[in-house]
Amino acid sequence: MAFDDQATPNDGGRKETAPEFLPKTTSAYGDPRYWDERFSAEEHYEWLKEYSHFQHLIRPYISTNYSILELGCGNSRLSERLHEEGVMDVTCIDISAIAVERMRQRLKEKGLLGIQVVEADMHDLPFESESFDIVVEKGTMIL
Ligand SMILES: C[S@@+](CC[C@H](N)C(=O)[O-])C[C@H]1O[C@@H](n2cnc3c(N)ncnc32)[C@H](O)[C@@H]1O
Repeated sequence: MAFDDQATPNDGGRKETAPEFLPKTTSAYGDPRYWDERFSAEEHYEWLKEYSHFQHLIRPYISTNYSILELGCGNSRLSERLHEEGVMDVTCIDISAIAVERMRQRLKEKGLLGIQVVEADMHDLPFESESFDIVVEKGTMIL
């Protein structure tokens, strides 16, 4: 099933998770195999809210010359939105190899080659301390 990119006025751009993507247990949300399976089939699902709904809250803190790390990007469009606003140094990580592969492919197709996508566990990041100016996440640190 494909999810489109359009925010509708009354739902904050968020759609209910399609039944076929719901895990059998809540602990599955912490299991990379659940995410791999889900991202193999799901094109786009924006957790919580689409960027336009909280842009006014975070954008004042982000200069376009900042380096940004996004934790658990999934198939969100958040990194693209930041890039569209001129934030060029964006790195996304996700624990799901499928999410990473599909995100790289999508960004390549859109010509957004400046966004780095790295397969990594947020609990054991493969970056030096203070590598980024800002860390953003949406729906990931609760897992
Ligand atoms: C609830 S989804 C949120 C996706 C996206 N941030 C959004 O707002 O649509 C959680 C994401 O975190 C990823 N994830 C789960 N555990 C992780 C971990 N330990 N390190 C990095 N990513 C993780 C999952 O693969 C999934 O893409």
